[in-house]
Amino acid sequence: MHHQEYRFQFEVYDSIHELAPEDAFLLAEARKTTALAYAPYSHFQVGAFARLNNGETVRGTNQENASYPAGICAERVLLSTASAMYPNEPIKTIAISYHNLNGESDRPVSPCGICRQSLAEQESRYKQPVRLILSGMEGKVYVVDKATSLLPMSFSGDDLK
Ligand code: THU
Repeated sequence: MHHQEYRFQFEVYDSIHELAPEDAFLLAEARKTTALAYAPYSHFQVGAFARLNNGETVRGTNQENASYPAGICAERVLLSTASAMYPNEPIKTIAISYHNLNGESDRPVSPCGICRQSLAEQESRYKQPVRLILSGMEGKVYVVDKATSLLPMSFSGDDLK
């Protein structure tokens, strides 16, 4: 028997003002995108904004439903939109923000478990890491270099071979 350890590092910035210009742009757009969310049930508006390898940008917002489980997170809306519009283009970086109309929006939140699985599929499909920029409408910003860092020991297409 031996132990195996999993570690990952991410960057923490005090605010958007510490980011490089391109990252600050993506986060500012993600923050604006929250206003486009369809979240009449949770009032938790999530906005995601991505840059693809070809320079194009894509956005996603959460799309809720009166039948709650039918709702879709902003991240998966973005991934599906990118895949439908630019099926051969990997996503370089996704900025994700949220506006909680019932509370504070001043700390980063990170993608839910299903979205982490979808992000992992994206990385294995295009053989390129997806960087994540996570922040609320203000305050600290986390930058994660590779989305799969958030989903260790994940199930993938390799397991189906
Ligand atoms: N939501 C997202 O869009 N992304 C996340 O990473 C977490 C949660 C949405 C789902 C639902 O519409 C609302 O936020 C509250 O959970």
